[in-house]
Amino acid sequence: MINKTTIDQVFETARVEEVIGEFVHLKKAGSNFKGLSPFVDEKTPSFMVSPVKQIWKDFSTGKGGNVISFLMEHEHYSYPEAIRYLAKKYNIEIEETEQTDEQKQQQSARESMYLVSEYAKNYFHKVLLENPTGKAIGYAYFKERGFTDETIKKFELGYALDEWSAFTDEALRNKYSLEFLEKTGLTIVKETKQFDRFKGRVLFPIHSMSGRVLGFGGRILKTDKKAAKYLNSPESEIYHKSKILYGIYHAKQAIAKEDNCYLVEGYTDVISFDQNGVHNTVASSGTALTADQIRLVSRLTNNITVLFDGDAAGIRASIRGIDLILEQGMNVKVVAFPDGEDPDSFAKSVTTEELKAFLTENAQDFIQFKVSLLLKDAANDPVKKAGLIREIVQSIAKIPSAIQREVYVQECATIMQISEKVLFGELAQIRNKNERDEGKRPQTKPLEIVKEQPKLVKVNQLNILERHIIEILLLYGNKKTEFIDYVDEENEEGEFKVVKKVFSNTVSKEIFLHLQDDEIEFTNDIFKTIYAEIIPQLNQDERISIEQLINHENPNISMTVSDLLMNDERYILSDWESKHIMVKTKEKQLSKLVMDAVYNIRRVLIEQKIEEIKNNILNSEDRHSDLELVKNYTDLKKLLFDKLARVV
Ligand code: CTP
Ligand code: MN
Repeated sequence: MINKTTIDQVFETARVEEVIGEFVHLKKAGSNFKGLSPFVDEKTPSFMVSPVKQIWKDFSTGKGGNVISFLMEHEHYSYPEAIRYLAKKYNIEIEETEQTDEQKQQQSARESMYLVSEYAKNYFHKVLLENPTGKAIGYAYFKERGFTDETIKKFELGYALDEWSAFTDEALRNKYSLEFLEKTGLTIVKETKQFDRFKGRVLFPIHSMSGRVLGFGGRILKTDKKAAKYLNSPESEIYHKSKILYGIYHAKQAIAKEDNCYLVEGYTDVISFDQNGVHNTVASSGTALTADQIRLVSRLTNNITVLFDGDAAGIRASIRGIDLILEQGMNVKVVAFPDGEDPDSFAKSVTTEELKAFLTENAQDFIQFKVSLLLKDAANDPVKKAGLIREIVQSIAKIPSAIQREVYVQECATIMQISEKVLFGELAQIRNKNERDEGKRPQTKPLEIVKEQPKLVKVNQLNILERHIIEILLLYGNKKTEFIDYVDEENEEGEFKVVKKVFSNTVSKEIFLHLQDDEIEFTNDIFKTIYAEIIPQLNQDERISIEQLINHENPNISMTVSDLLMNDERYILSDWESKHIMVKTKEKQLSKLVMDAVYNIRRVLIEQKIEEIKNNILNSEDRHSDLELVKNYTDLKKLLFDKLARVV
């Protein structure tokens, strides 16, 4: 683990405008920078960076946050990867927290395996481009397959000389240890002899999402019936075939940008697509698709389009893959290629425009696909048709979202000319059965689990109000202003009178007192945490440490805070003047803003209480006192209304 001091140092040193400036063309706009959103195609800038606050906000997609969250969104780094990237950029030495000896060994073993793989990739690539034999055989092969120099360099393709240990000898000469050459499978050790695993093959390096070389796929050049066409790196501590997709490193940005991922089978399919302008393509490398692989894509998009060759084996494999994708809660489309063509050969035979048009025009959703596939021989056979319908419903049953299931049921009903009611009945049966079966084995849940929220409207209302209070605290928490309140006071004659009181207080103290009076707790965990962190600071008359919140280790907090802060800036994008007016009026009516927020949250909570009591009143043991309570709450609510009206 990277230690806290390093992380702090990275945050202190990194400048959000410098880091983002490497990916987005930024122009000065007032005290901020603006540019075109890197997440969507757009003509007018909606992307803002604030050097003062050290945050960014993309108004097209609603994304925003600190420097780390930018790298996580844009480069799809994990948190530690982003820290390492910045440490490297700013020459900060990374200190790791104490690890056990065993952890250290494991860590350094993996690190050594990465290093030797990186070395091997560079070596094989160099042989392909510079070694006379490499050029004559490896380079010539790729050229003949139509790969350009640019493509060969982009995918860092290589060639292993057809000698027993040319690579291993060179690696050993360069002080790489045999242990890790063997562990990565690059070298095969037999008794006292060492052999190059990939000898005589052209090589496709396999990269992780963040660009590290994990292993290789090696294609044979001779037509040898006995040897496998492709030989891959063996499973190792760094290479897990089922968890990686070939091409993901080069495709990730395009996948996110296009909001779709093309899934093909082979290395050459990915490369030919990329060369012909379709960059959002990855390959499962000939194995059956796995849930881990799908989850890799789901970090980038919710949409997968499966492409497969027209032969029967291809179709069977893709049907299994489709159900797996549906199970992960993703949308899936299918494109079948003409008989005898695979994505590689097809991409080479058409222009970029034709390729793109073909993909759009031939993408079917999975119901259309299954129907067209099976309807041919089921059309006039009621029994077969029933079987087909059941099969489609079985796929629909795998979709986690109820709304989506309903949409697909409707579509299926239309295509198959059968009533929705019957389909829903069938669907319910299958889902019940699946649930029973699932009870028996450990369940793998899709990543996003939506919490049931019965009182949705109220919850949202509270959420908005809570968010509003946090916003006020962040922007004006330490401002002092005049507050007005109306309190009951007894005069000399013993009468009660409403008296107007004017007093001065800081915004944060006023909010704190009101909420504390009513023992109001935030329902939203994020707002609750932010509140708990800033109130003590504000109450000690200190300024809030915005940086601390923006760089909070909880990404949700960092995101929420930068979002709230940036919202205030968005007016710059359209119009400077209006922003000024906006801020002025906001500050002038600060007390109204605060009282509105506080009273509103109290009102909603009271309404909730009343609702709760009313709902339970039938089962109540003391109905009389419950009704009394409702009356009291209703009075209180009226009182609040009156106060609110006066403040306004
Ligand atoms: N594959 C493999 N081992 C094999 C055959 C295939 O790992 N013995 C994997 C490779 O990742 C390959 C993919 O399955 O890219 C698809 O196989 P295939 O269609 O046979 O290969 P192509 O990618 O089409 O390769 P080429 O065009 O060079 O024949
Ligand atoms: Mn092929």
